[in-house]
Amino acid sequence: MTGEAFIRLIRERRTVYDFKPDPVPRPVLEQALEAAVWAPNHGLSEPWRFHVPGMKTRAVLAQIYARLRADKRCEPDTDAWRQTYEKALQRFLAVPGMVLVGQQLAEDPLQREEDAAAVACAIQNFQLAMWAQEVGVQWSTGPVIRAVETYELLGIEPKKEKLVALLYYGYPACVGRSRRSDWREKTRWLD
Ligand SMILES: Cc1cc2nc3c(=O)[nH]c(=O)nc-3n(C[C@H](O)[C@H](O)[C@H](O)COP(=O)(O)O)c2cc1C
Repeated sequence: MTGEAFIRLIRERRTVYDFKPDPVPRPVLEQALEAAVWAPNHGLSEPWRFHVPGMKTRAVLAQIYARLRADKRCEPDTDAWRQTYEKALQRFLAVPGMVLVGQQLAEDPLQREEDAAAVACAIQNFQLAMWAQEVGVQWSTGPVIRAVETYELLGIEPKKEKLVALLYYGYPACVGRSRRSDWREKTRWLD
């Protein structure tokens, strides 16, 4: 791949919200995880952790997701709550694949900050590697990753690891648009 093609890949990657139902083959996911771990990380702390839920785990995650969504939008014990819950459940279950990303929590606050940056780099590597294989990703930081039930389900000790992202992925049904300000507006050249 030329430098120009690589820069185009970066520019053209979009967050994807609507996926085709087709499953993404496991080797495609494995390639993206392999790219993720080549992210820069200070002191080779390798703070990223990836949790790939199978269908059983996903079914429980879907319930957590749907309950949080319905609780946020509707009064409990109402038809509206039940409708919102059911819709959210189906929406979550329809996503072809997902990975939860955790950050191993260092004792030192500066190391923690730097590890958070490294995990974000890993996530972007993941997104780009998926995009290079025609797979779209939505990086979500919704309430599911903060729910106690999610930690229990995944067997994560909250003092040792923080969930920082839920990455939904699949072949895009449609790709939206995005925009950026010109880099010149964000750049100062100093003497
Ligand atoms: C730290 C972080 C958290 C994000 N959380 C969410 C989220 O919770 N839900 C969502 O739809 N998108 C989320 N995104 C994706 C952004 O909304 C998206 O990157 C932005 O709209 C620009 O679109 P693009 O990725 O297509 O350029 C997140 C992105 C980052 C970097």
